[in-house]
Amino acid sequence: MIQSDVLILGSGIAGLSTAIQLAEKNSELVIRVVSKTTKEECNTRYAQGGIAAVWDRIKDDFQKHILDTMDAGDDLSDESVVKIVVEEGPQRVQELIDWGARFDKVPNDKDYDLAREGGHSEKRILHYRDLTGAEIERALLEKAASFPNVIILEHYYAIDVITQHHLGYNVTRIMPDIECYGAYLLNLQNLEVETHLAKITVLATGGAGQIYKTTTNPIIATGDGIAMLYRAKGHVENMEFVQFHPTALYQAAGENPAFLISEAVRGFGGILKTKDGQEFMHKYDERLSLAPRDIVARAIDSELKARGEDYVCLDCRHLDKAEFVKHFPTIYDKCLSIGIDPMKQMIPVVPACHYMCGGIKVDANGRSSIDYLYACGESTCTGLHGANRLASNSLLEAVVFADRIALDIEQKIAGISIKSDIPEWDATGTAHPKELILITQSIKELKEVMSYYVGIVRSNVRIDRALNRLHLLYEEAEDLYNSTTLSAALCELRNLITIGYLVTRSASMRKESRGLHYTTDYPEKNDFKQSSLL
Ligand code: FAD
Ligand code: SIN
Repeated sequence: MIQSDVLILGSGIAGLSTAIQLAEKNSELVIRVVSKTTKEECNTRYAQGGIAAVWDRIKDDFQKHILDTMDAGDDLSDESVVKIVVEEGPQRVQELIDWGARFDKVPNDKDYDLAREGGHSEKRILHYRDLTGAEIERALLEKAASFPNVIILEHYYAIDVITQHHLGYNVTRIMPDIECYGAYLLNLQNLEVETHLAKITVLATGGAGQIYKTTTNPIIATGDGIAMLYRAKGHVENMEFVQFHPTALYQAAGENPAFLISEAVRGFGGILKTKDGQEFMHKYDERLSLAPRDIVARAIDSELKARGEDYVCLDCRHLDKAEFVKHFPTIYDKCLSIGIDPMKQMIPVVPACHYMCGGIKVDANGRSSIDYLYACGESTCTGLHGANRLASNSLLEAVVFADRIALDIEQKIAGISIKSDIPEWDATGTAHPKELILITQSIKELKEVMSYYVGIVRSNVRIDRALNRLHLLYEEAEDLYNSTTLSAALCELRNLITIGYLVTRSASMRKESRGLHYTTDYPEKNDFKQSSLL
């Protein structure tokens, strides 16, 4: 058995920021950070647009950022959490800069070049070209490496958190009655399952875009942490609110992940048009191409269905080439690589699953409903995003919560001991690996079910059909899991099906249309602002 003071599952912005904050506060702690592939492969690395923060204190202020976030969240965000994230945000961004992250500046080389994205009333997005996430991840990995007490484990797959119910079962569902003692990790180099015990465990496992056919999320985004927590009987919330980014690059053959055309391109002047060059956003929202994402994605979905077409277009032909290439070098090169010159041709785009607004229910200090188990980043539901996330607020949320989690852990950890009587992983009853094709076929089916029946526009009939199909997939996957030698692919299949179920079940519970959840059976918003706790 391997012991750590703090075991952090995930090496994206949430996991690494938590580790750094903890290591800065206490150099005695043994902190292990786990990544299921290489340490840099995560959603964070692909972030393009940037990180939102009130930076220009003359034109912008906290209240404006709070109102924009609440507005995008369609009245379901928790205002106290929004306030925390917006007000603590600039300090945390300054820390990223102090740790070595670079953001673009205007030519005077003093002020940051703030961009604007959909739903923001002011320019407040700090960015590094169109590679903000890669730059932040680089800086965080370098900073983490400077602490001898931060150990990064690559190619370790967390199967499940280790939990036990403690005596005195509490039936209120509010107080935790379960404790977490670490996690079982599959070492992908030797395929042995290791028992990792920890005083505190932090889930920072990111999102779950891979439940859909078209997604901007890399293939690691399989919702493992949310599924693990749900299996451990922790609380998850608001899973029906899946954000589709309006503009992923359309490629007829499909590409996994789909390449993102950042919202910053629309902030820079790119205009959405139909294939035949007609603007259409005026029919849907006065903010046109810069309306919040849920509105733009639905507008595109509606145009595609009405016209029977596969994509709409982003017209950048009127923009200054030198400035465009300076701001969006990766997007420009990617378009050229598939034969589209954005200065001469319109860029074909489609909506793609992009972000999970729901997830592990946590309090303002990142504590889940399970004792000694915290969660940070995209795997969580903090209350910030409500029914729809405002662009570039997720990197911000991760750094703000990482700091709060580290403070809370630092205050408590001296009084916690590592649990000793934990059983090793039991692999009895499992036989030879089954054909990989069974797993890949089930994942394909899951993606189809979710994309056809639980996408941007939903209905009772479609949701019921999805629940039936998911039930069958669940039974088959459990059968495989219980009889087959463990593999990361099999665990991911199981987790993807769990996430698909959580999204669909939550969607079935919401009898209204709000934010990212739109259903033709209840097209209006209710006055009653319930969250969907499972
Ligand atoms: P991730 O960065 O995804 O990290 C997850 C980590 O968990 C990885 O290290 C992974 O290996 C590990 N992990 C997962 N499961 C397991 C397991 N079972 N065992 C072990 N390790 C595991 N947000 C913004 O605010 N601004 C943007 O401009 C922006 N642009 C985006 C562009 C794209 C293309 C995408 C996909 C997202 C974008 N987002 C943006 C969203 C943002 O990038 C993510 O929400 C954020 O990076 C999530 O960080 P995270 O640390 O929670 O998760
Ligand atoms: C983008 O660059 O459009 C993505 C921003 C985000 O998801 O917050």
